[in-house]
Amino acid sequence: MRTLWRHARIATLAGPRGWGLVERGALLADGDTIAWLGDEAALPAGLRADEEHELGGALVTPGLIDCHTHLVYAGNRAQEFELRLQGASYEAIAQAGGGIRSTVAATRAASDDELHALALQRALALRAEGVTVVEIKSGYGLTPHDEARLLRCARRVGADAGMTVRTTYLAAHAVPLEYEGRADDYVDALIAWLPALHAEGLVDAVDAFCERIAFSPAQTRRVFDAAQRLNLPVKLHAEQLSDSGGTALAASYRALSCDHLEHLSPTGIAAMAAAGTVAVLLPGAYYHLRDTAPPPVAALRAAGVPMAVATDHNPGSSPTLAPLLMLNMACALFGLTPEEALRGMTANAARALGLAARHGTLEAGKRCDFAVFALDHPRELAYGFGLGRPCTRVVCGGRALETR
Ligand code: NIG
Ligand code: FE
Repeated sequence: MRTLWRHARIATLAGPRGWGLVERGALLADGDTIAWLGDEAALPAGLRADEEHELGGALVTPGLIDCHTHLVYAGNRAQEFELRLQGASYEAIAQAGGGIRSTVAATRAASDDELHALALQRALALRAEGVTVVEIKSGYGLTPHDEARLLRCARRVGADAGMTVRTTYLAAHAVPLEYEGRADDYVDALIAWLPALHAEGLVDAVDAFCERIAFSPAQTRRVFDAAQRLNLPVKLHAEQLSDSGGTALAASYRALSCDHLEHLSPTGIAAMAAAGTVAVLLPGAYYHLRDTAPPPVAALRAAGVPMAVATDHNPGSSPTLAPLLMLNMACALFGLTPEEALRGMTANAARALGLAARHGTLEAGKRCDFAVFALDHPRELAYGFGLGRPCTRVVCGGRALETR
């Protein structure tokens, strides 16, 4: 099946910088892959398509890639938000048994069908904003049975939403109640669960939360060693609340990404630059936790560390399903340019998931994932906030999906 889309302003994001604009562009898909893209006037003569679509000059971008989410869970933490507004800190709430543990309790109590319905609705909300690829972490099960449930749910959501889902094993998210005071035993346990989950095809990468209230660098290292034994790439929730040195550790394992990074040091930046690790910036969590120390964007830029932007959708620190708002916040709160922000949710997000060979830019040979927006210029994606839904169409693997 060959499908041709014509008369679009295409922001390809191809190449290391710039929007890669094709002013009056056309794009031909052969099955799930882009066969040809360029100026409509240069369309090869005699080119035949089974279907043709006129886009009326609309803006086309690569499908957005949300490279950091915790989409599968039950319940919400609105009450903790109230407590935080009254002065309680995220850390204090976690230490008092709330935080991640309270979502773990609600998630364990939910049925597979309940979790699926919740997660699917969230994935469809992201898709309606232009997202075609979403990373989904486990981490609210924290038993072998419940972590498997979350990861299977993530796979099922991808199939049902027609989106590409990458799963990340994040059992090292918090020490569950039943292991209270025995964090090292819990790390042994979660390491022992991994091979079976991997054998079932449920794990694309391994993540951990390296922080005072979660796991130490030594414990994180053990998790990474287990991933490495299975040839699985690693990622890390690093330097979010304090500088624990997790970033340099992750870079020594050639981590795909380090995420959050509000307290990242120059040593960490140098280690990421040397390892080619992507910095995933999460302005939603920064905003919702009312953090005041933004990640060191100017230094990351100067060091040539690729920057990505994601929603970090989760019920505790970033209850948002608004990726375009995250583009705006990445500019307004962190100082990214609109082009860096969009690159952060396309080309660099693909790198953060190890998917750059097929995803993240619009070029012949890449997967035909794109979003159509009722906008004139790609800079408008990061400009407005809450302006409604500019995305009018999402194409995933050459197939048009409903967005409204
Ligand atoms: O990315 N920092 C750890 N994990 C999540 C928050 C999880 C939660 O509070 O439920 C994050 O911010
Ligand atoms: Fe997160």
